[in-house]
Amino acid sequence: MRLLSSLFHSKRVSVNEGAAIDRRAFFSRFAVASAASAALFSRTNDASAIDELPEGVTPSNPRELLYPTPENHSVVFSPESGKFAASYPILQNVSYDSASIVWSLNTPSTGWVEWGPTPKLGKIARNSEFGLNPYEEDFLSARILGLQPNTIYYYRTATCAFSYRSAYDKTCEPAQYSDVYSFKTAGPNVEKVSFAVMNDTHNQIDTIRTLFDRFDDINPDFLVWNGDLCHRYPSSYIVKTTIANPCDRPYAAERPLILSKGNHDRWGPFAHKFTQIFTPWIQRNPRFRSLGYNVALRYGPLAIIVLDTADTKADDAPACQGLYSSTPYREQQANWLREALQQPEIANAPYLIAFCHIPLFEHTPKEDATPPAQMSWIPYHEAGRYFGPLFDEYGVQLLIAAHRHKFAYSEASPHRPWAQLLGGGPLMENATCIYAEANSNELVVNCEKLSDRSILGSWSFKPRF
Ligand SMILES: [Fe+2]
Repeated sequence: MRLLSSLFHSKRVSVNEGAAIDRRAFFSRFAVASAASAALFSRTNDASAIDELPEGVTPSNPRELLYPTPENHSVVFSPESGKFAASYPILQNVSYDSASIVWSLNTPSTGWVEWGPTPKLGKIARNSEFGLNPYEEDFLSARILGLQPNTIYYYRTATCAFSYRSAYDKTCEPAQYSDVYSFKTAGPNVEKVSFAVMNDTHNQIDTIRTLFDRFDDINPDFLVWNGDLCHRYPSSYIVKTTIANPCDRPYAAERPLILSKGNHDRWGPFAHKFTQIFTPWIQRNPRFRSLGYNVALRYGPLAIIVLDTADTKADDAPACQGLYSSTPYREQQANWLREALQQPEIANAPYLIAFCHIPLFEHTPKEDATPPAQMSWIPYHEAGRYFGPLFDEYGVQLLIAAHRHKFAYSEASPHRPWAQLLGGGPLMENATCIYAEANSNELVVNCEKLSDRSILGSWSFKPRF
């Protein structure tokens, strides 16, 4: 927070004023790796099931080395380590009264979370169902209920490797515990709040690591991963290495991680098991129980909305093979969104911003047209048609989106009273770090180029009332 404060006192610069990248230095970093890249790419391992690379990366491009593989990914929590857990805890779904913790596993295990209002803990949260305690091969989770808003709590995870040979022949190893971490619940009673945004990482561990370095400097109150975390989801391996433990640090053990799901986050077999790594939000209205990746939350003066724009392709496109139902999903989210925007703590928030992965309109010369007219791409058209008019009606000030792999910012206009900010792409030369802070006087949003921290843009929003 201290650095964030100092940054806010720096000179505001206009869009695209940032310093140029030292391209020679950038590419020289990969020259050494080039000769070895073809051999590594052909090796057989779980990660090689990835059949496509992010935009701008080809099999002849040495940057493919940045894909996590058993050879190049420094997961220190390997099975040989003797540790049952394969990651630090990931703090999620931190609302006014609940939170969930997820962690990945090296071995089939059972486990729970110990928590309390002091470091002495004293309470247990365990995701037991139908009289069965958890037994998982890849990820464990536990949801803590009964919390108070704007309150600090402490927790640690407990993991027990479990050998399940037969009904009368099974072994539960003594628990291994994480460190004790703390977190603060959301709520209206704080003077200021800060957040940071990463997006379109597409498994690029080097970019993710650099973002985490930056977040450690900025120290935001919460983190939004704005979609396309991985490029494909062939198995749990890619999730363990890219999301759960990308670079051996507890990046979200105390800083809540909020998911805004991207189109790539629904591609591949493990995408259908996404709730194992990102536990769903609890909806107040049972009618919307299935919308586990939508949330409306108030943090001091700021209210946020998170939407899932779903896939880029039409549901009946041959590539979907009948597996997607994005249109009814967006329609249901629009019904949820109207209700969420009417909740008192959202409606009366001084600032209101939204997050979703796919932009709601294309940045074209016609961007000042009304949303339906400006959509030149059908999936954008549908998301914009469902969500855009509600943004207009309920006073959303800013949408932070991604997907285009290119920074862009469109001011609000008389025809579209909300601005749209797009973060950059997966490779270091176009990756961005978005960070913001809101207090009673203003909401300041910054977007910087990750490679050299030059400011691409800084925008100030005044309270709505
Ligand atoms: Fe995308």
